[in-house]
Amino acid sequence: MDVDFFRQEAHRLVDWIADYYSEVEKYPVKSSVRPGSVFSAIPATPPVEPEDMACIFKDFENIIMPGITHWQSPGFFAYFPSNTSFPSLLAEMLSSALGTQCMKWETSPAATELEEAVMNWLKKMTGLPEYFEGVLQDTASTSTLCAILTAREKLTGFSGNNNGLSSYPGMRVYCSAEAHSSIEKAVKIAGIGRENLVKISTDKEFRMIPALLEEAIKQDIKSGLKPVCVVAALGTTGSTAVDPLAEISSICSRYKIWLHIDAAFAGSALLLPEYRWMLQGIEQADSFVFNPHKWLFTHFDCSAYFVKDSECLINTFKLVPEYLRSQIPDHVNDYSNWGIQLGRRFRALKLWFVIRSFGLSGLQQKLRHHIALARELQTWIEKHEHFELLAPVTFNLVCFRFHPRGVDNATELNRLNEQLLLAVNNTGKMYITHTKLKENYTLRMVTGQTHVELNHVQKAWDLIVEKAATVYNL
Ligand SMILES: Cc1ncc(COP(=O)(O)O)c(C=O)c1O
Repeated sequence: MDVDFFRQEAHRLVDWIADYYSEVEKYPVKSSVRPGSVFSAIPATPPVEPEDMACIFKDFENIIMPGITHWQSPGFFAYFPSNTSFPSLLAEMLSSALGTQCMKWETSPAATELEEAVMNWLKKMTGLPEYFEGVLQDTASTSTLCAILTAREKLTGFSGNNNGLSSYPGMRVYCSAEAHSSIEKAVKIAGIGRENLVKISTDKEFRMIPALLEEAIKQDIKSGLKPVCVVAALGTTGSTAVDPLAEISSICSRYKIWLHIDAAFAGSALLLPEYRWMLQGIEQADSFVFNPHKWLFTHFDCSAYFVKDSECLINTFKLVPEYLRSQIPDHVNDYSNWGIQLGRRFRALKLWFVIRSFGLSGLQQKLRHHIALARELQTWIEKHEHFELLAPVTFNLVCFRFHPRGVDNATELNRLNEQLLLAVNNTGKMYITHTKLKENYTLRMVTGQTHVELNHVQKAWDLIVEKAATVYNL
């Protein structure tokens, strides 16, 4: 493909992308292809001769598109969003065009320095303490793994990486029973052992109970075990519960335990002064993560990880083989020493485009709009005699279920709600997912897609009510 042909194809694709976004609602939100159908449509052997771009694109439309779930559709209310925006998309185009690999300062000084600047912006925008320093990771799972590895290394006086962990059996990590599975995964692969993850029970609003945390820590110390890290959630995955940070952080500082904060989804709400109460106690925290790729209109992947003491992080990860040595003075950042991967994408560019293009006030407006949509949905549920809320609505996630009056058997209610979920998703008009809260099958609906408006939420709610009548004869 020469540059002229590239120009022609790229213009065509930009038109296709613009049409896609204008017409995204015409696609079934959740792909309904059968398992294996895409795979079997792809030849088992790669082409030997070059293929025509028109032919490749035709297959993209005919084979790939049917197998796509449309996360950018305003009918997408599932999981947490992985939302995008046009400024972010433009930056991703440029980043792809440059094809830079930003592992070290000198491999693209602008990428490193823009990352430093944008992380400082994010710190100011979210109200994190000035002394935090930030780095972009791919995902919250990676950020949390970095936090747990750093906490582990700090506990071993940074000897674990050199000598292994045999002198440090019985390390313990604590999180709430509602914490995300990425914490368990991190504990599992950090050599701490999944059995050493202590899941603390939650109160009726799904928040960690600090007294039980302290009790567990005391017990463990008494038994000769070594508390290494507590992970507090600001916005759990199931119901966006906010753990009481002030109490948790004072426990951590009393027992000198690393405190990591997982605000993967709800951290974006810190852009709003009315949500800063969540940060009470942040001064004692050691690390904090939130994902602009979830609810800040920035393409996946983009996870903002902040640490109080970057030396600890760098001591855990730094490794400079001969082929990566350079003459550049030490005071520049080589971000590959701030995490697991060596090679790094130019992620700061999309954040820069997003923050400048929306402006802080534009971002705040969008976030407040999404929260207002959730509140609207909440009132419809509260008013409906056969539906009920199953968790407080703190941000833009609404947890609820269909509860026909007179049906009080827990298993039956779970079955009805599972059927309802399937029925609404099978229409292709919307997509919601579920969780279990206190063993109750819970429908989760998140109003966080970039382009979601009241009419989309209204249509989705009408559909849920309509389908409810088909799974149970009221
Ligand atoms: C609270 C919380 N933490 C961590 C994660 C994992 O995020 P990622 O996909 O960036 O690893 C999620 C994902 O939804 C989450 O909700």
